[in-house]
Amino acid sequence: MGSLQDRVIIITGAASGIGLATAKAALKEGANVLGVDVVAEPPASLSEINAGSDTDCHFSYHACDLTKATSPAEVLATCQSTFGGRIDVLFNIAGVMDHHGSIDTVTDYDWERCMAINVTAPVKLMREVIPAMRDQQQGVIVNMASRAGLSGAAAGVAYTASKHAIIGVTKNVAWRFRDENIRCIAVCPGGVGDTAIVSSVDPGSFDKEAMAKTMPIINAVYRQRNENFKAMMPEELAETLMFLVGEGSKRITGAVIPIDDGWSTI
Ligand SMILES: NC(=O)c1ccc[n+]([C@@H]2O[C@H](COP(=O)([O-])OP(=O)(O)OC[C@H]3O[C@@H](n4cnc5c(N)ncnc54)[C@H](O)[C@@H]3O)[C@@H](O)[C@H]2O)c1
Repeated sequence: MGSLQDRVIIITGAASGIGLATAKAALKEGANVLGVDVVAEPPASLSEINAGSDTDCHFSYHACDLTKATSPAEVLATCQSTFGGRIDVLFNIAGVMDHHGSIDTVTDYDWERCMAINVTAPVKLMREVIPAMRDQQQGVIVNMASRAGLSGAAAGVAYTASKHAIIGVTKNVAWRFRDENIRCIAVCPGGVGDTAIVSSVDPGSFDKEAMAKTMPIINAVYRQRNENFKAMMPEELAETLMFLVGEGSKRITGAVIPIDDGWSTI
């Protein structure tokens, strides 16, 4: 039996990177997972886990653009019709980065896209799942923030604002529902290797002048470390996320948790 046996878990961004690793980790722990992503088909590796697992886990997939007005309600309906009425855990992981634009160069496209995908979509999905969690008097929501949610020197203004915003939402949800056994946590990873986040932007359109102010900080944190330093992999991050939705963390709510090899200390 896995530590998340029979829990019903929604994971956005499940087709790639951190969301994919989280879906695999949850399946290994015996969960019933609904993966959600804008990508049409889930990676084959997810279905293989489903078939080959020694825990009795189940995987289902719902392709949708989470910024579409009808998507959040469709995700909830799909999850409930697939796995019954419960929603035990929501991982809001889907996200995009920006082109590092500062306030004088940020495009409407980057601002609106970062806010729509990184803030508005998770907010609307939380609004959908909270009634089920209140009926159960139980639930955990993990929102994917970033080092850029704690710092002004890690990304462009649009991404930075979106990740600060999701942290504020997290705290509000945690406080509002703390007496109903519904927890809400934000995580703030530093750099994570082996994801496709850079493909969410056009590499030719970065604001190089703004980047020149930020990259020395990031380089100091990551590139100038000792030669044995290895970037954090999505699978390592997923292990921490499993802890955060499990029994061992039942007193943690409203927390904003850096997972960044100490970057948050500067
Ligand atoms: N990679 C990093 O270094 C890092 C660091 C801190 C935080 N994060 C955050 O982690 C999350 C996951 O990023 P990742 O690095 O795994 O990137 P990724 O690109 O590998 O995964 C993001 C997933 O989100 C999906 N997605 C994007 N827009 C969507 C939409 N409108 N509807 C549905 N799905 C959509 C993508 O298709 C993709 O599968 C993001 O929120 C990102 O901001 C990443």
